[in-house]
Amino acid sequence: MTKALVTGCAGFIGSHLTQRLLSEGVTVIGIDGFLDNYDVAAKLRNLAQIGSHPAFTFHSTMLQAQRWKDWLEGVDVVYHLAALPGVRNSWGKAFTDYVNHNILATQMLLEACLQQPKPPTVVVSSSSSVYGTMQGSFTDEIAPLRPVSPYGVTKESMEQICQVYVKAYGLRVTMLRYFTVYGPRQRPDMAFHRFFRQLMKGEQVTIFGDGQQSRDFTYVADAVRANILAAKCAAPGEIFNVGGDREIKLLDVLAIMGGLLNVTPKLTFQSGPAGDSKRTCADITLAQTRLGYKPQVPLEEGLRLQLADMRSQAKG
Ligand code: UGA
Repeated sequence: MTKALVTGCAGFIGSHLTQRLLSEGVTVIGIDGFLDNYDVAAKLRNLAQIGSHPAFTFHSTMLQAQRWKDWLEGVDVVYHLAALPGVRNSWGKAFTDYVNHNILATQMLLEACLQQPKPPTVVVSSSSSVYGTMQGSFTDEIAPLRPVSPYGVTKESMEQICQVYVKAYGLRVTMLRYFTVYGPRQRPDMAFHRFFRQLMKGEQVTIFGDGQQSRDFTYVADAVRANILAAKCAAPGEIFNVGGDREIKLLDVLAIMGGLLNVTPKLTFQSGPAGDSKRTCADITLAQTRLGYKPQVPLEEGLRLQLADMRSQAKG
């Protein structure tokens, strides 16, 4: 039986991944430092959804506490999701925290993995924000990295520190570049969460920029599946785009959301924040051929599932 360590297990993607692993019979050690980038109550709710499974051990701690002996013993796979996410808040003084949680903490983890008698496979969460605004029709993994936010810079550096450990020590680290993940438990600062909340309350929906920006939105269960496939494939030093079913403009997503709620969204446009990419669109050929990854949840279905989750939270 496999034993996994999930860092950031109370977060949006981490909590779904933990549940999925437990359902597959994996023993999971979960770590979460409850960073206050959003309401900690939401993270506690995510943790509660995992429940008290006999194969699940939870440590409420920052990675910087470095209790590796407790966390890594007998672990076959580390899924490293702990991070300070979000592109728009990574400017100014916050950058120190982004460096700390996204680069330094990752290096500590890699170093600790090396010290293990049998170093585990590591699957690291990176981000489409390493590319910046995309050119051409689809972006593959060899496209130039031109992040447009400090957050994107930290994710690019995180990838590079991983590559150094792969090259120097043969550590088995695989990196996944997620494209704007959505679905139940999505972070409250992210667009779909904010839009649904505003629509459900009959409020104006705040659009940053002109709403013509586009994204390749990825449903959370697809991102989870990509992690599990990457761990099985163990492709040291390889990087995979993890995208959704298509690229779509924000205004077109809002039209779908309006249809689901049977409302006509009232829109307010605000000047676009620095750090926002104009468009993202993943070429997932590599993940398809090497990992067998294929997004399974179309956007309309994923939006319906996120809305159902938000409605049940609102009743809650
Ligand atoms: C998201 C995550 O926040 C990052 O952590 C992640 O690394 C990144 O995806 C990625 O894929 O690399 P983002 O694409 O900005 O970043 O995702 P959203 O927060 O869902 O925003 C999507 C678009 O909606 C952006 O253009 C944003 O400016 C816009 N938006 C967001 C609004 O117009 N209004 C809002 O209230 C919120």
